[in-house]
Amino acid sequence: MEAASTTVGVIGLGYVGLPTAIGFLDAGFEVWGVDISERTVAMVREGRNPTGDPDVDDLVPAPGTPRWHVTTSTAEAVPHCDVVLVTVPTPVTHDLQPDLSYVESAGRAVFEALPGGTNTVVVLESTVYPGVTAETWLPLLEELGLKQGVDVTIAYCPERFNPGDPAHGVRSVARVIGCVDADVGQALVGLYAQLTSEDVRYVGRLEVAEAAKVIENVQRDLNIALVNELARIFPALGVDVEDVLSAAATKWNFHRYTPGVGVGGHCIPVDPYYMIQRASNVGVPANLITAARAVNRSMPVHVAGVIRDLLYQAEVPAKDARVLLMGWSYKAEVGDPRETPAEPLADALLEKGVRVGTWDPHLDEPLMDGVTVHASLEEAEGYDLVVLVTAHKACLEADWTALHSRMRTPILYDGRRVLDLEHLANAGWQVHAVGRP
Ligand SMILES: NC(=O)c1ccc[n+]([C@@H]2O[C@H](COP(=O)([O-])OP(=O)(O)OC[C@H]3O[C@@H](n4cnc5c(N)ncnc54)[C@H](O)[C@@H]3O)[C@@H](O)[C@H]2O)c1
Repeated sequence: MEAASTTVGVIGLGYVGLPTAIGFLDAGFEVWGVDISERTVAMVREGRNPTGDPDVDDLVPAPGTPRWHVTTSTAEAVPHCDVVLVTVPTPVTHDLQPDLSYVESAGRAVFEALPGGTNTVVVLESTVYPGVTAETWLPLLEELGLKQGVDVTIAYCPERFNPGDPAHGVRSVARVIGCVDADVGQALVGLYAQLTSEDVRYVGRLEVAEAAKVIENVQRDLNIALVNELARIFPALGVDVEDVLSAAATKWNFHRYTPGVGVGGHCIPVDPYYMIQRASNVGVPANLITAARAVNRSMPVHVAGVIRDLLYQAEVPAKDARVLLMGWSYKAEVGDPRETPAEPLADALLEKGVRVGTWDPHLDEPLMDGVTVHASLEEAEGYDLVVLVTAHKACLEADWTALHSRMRTPILYDGRRVLDLEHLANAGWQVHAVGRP
């Protein structure tokens, strides 16, 4: 799988697929990128970035770039490819069940387009629970009369990059590969080693690679849930959780996490449900994972309750109150609103009759019914309370003095524990924060 003789297809040009496709292009491969969204394909063809990841802004190849093909048609792209990487969404349904419909439909489109006899390697990169690649794709191969090792070989290689974090981009994360055929697994090690500078390993069974990815996010969810739970307990004891964490972190083996208004994004709040579902399928209760999810999922509602109390103490009745959410996307420096805790937080405040506005320097589209979106922070005035939801640099470096002068009541709630509260208190703000009494 050398760059000069290998064509790579990427199905799904989102946060994962687009930088992956560009990464292989930069590594010298011929690349076919496919997305069912006409808007995405039109933007990528024009050299524009359809994702909210600013790290990709300057990377999208200009029109006419050699070795770079972008289409909405899987059937057009696949016959050109030696390896096809599938990077489609794996969300949860409204009742928190894994939604594998994208994995199935993208797989079907790829397999239907295979010329046959080419042993094309098709790699799922989407995050799934152990067993999904085989259980979803093998029946499709059978239905279409395709033989593994002759027409196609399926493999799994989870994407682990971190959007908005250039140090852990697609060209600098370690990869693990699962494949029933060890030779193909090793060939894929050679392929991915040309994409990333980090370790690439064949780990054997598909299920091992699938499980490795999902437990990474389960572990993060658990650690964050612990610190979020502590951020509820310690203020009730009159103690600031950050003081406790700073003290505990003096021990060599203490891992420090920061509490917050909630966990968002496409991975951490979603992947544990995949693991819970899988464990339930085999009759093993995933009690700890379920409990952690419940803690993190309830954080925005908990914070909404604290905000209601702060407004009450300031004698601002909820039905007259105006709350500004600073930042809406789920993570700093990325314009990605998926699963953001801002949404359940806004929902809980709206339910109490509070009027809610938001300003997010990385997002400008309407975000949620009933929430006023300000194109600039200067537009925001007459609010009673500001919640720092996302630690975007532009939020931290905002002109807090000017914002203070436009507030009706200058209450500030730091939902990420990143602001200099002493400085802001000296500037006249009534300061509060998650985990602070
Ligand atoms: N975003 C992250 O930080 C991240 C990191 C690691 C892993 N992942 C995982 O990677 C997968 C993709 O996530 P994402 O954030 O890139 O999602 P995304 O929604 O940004 O992108 C997915 C793209 O796939 C396209 N698509 C859907 N069905 C298609 C089909 N049949 N054919 C062609 N295109 C199709 C969509 O139009 C979309 O552009 C998910 O499983 C996610 O959990 C995401």
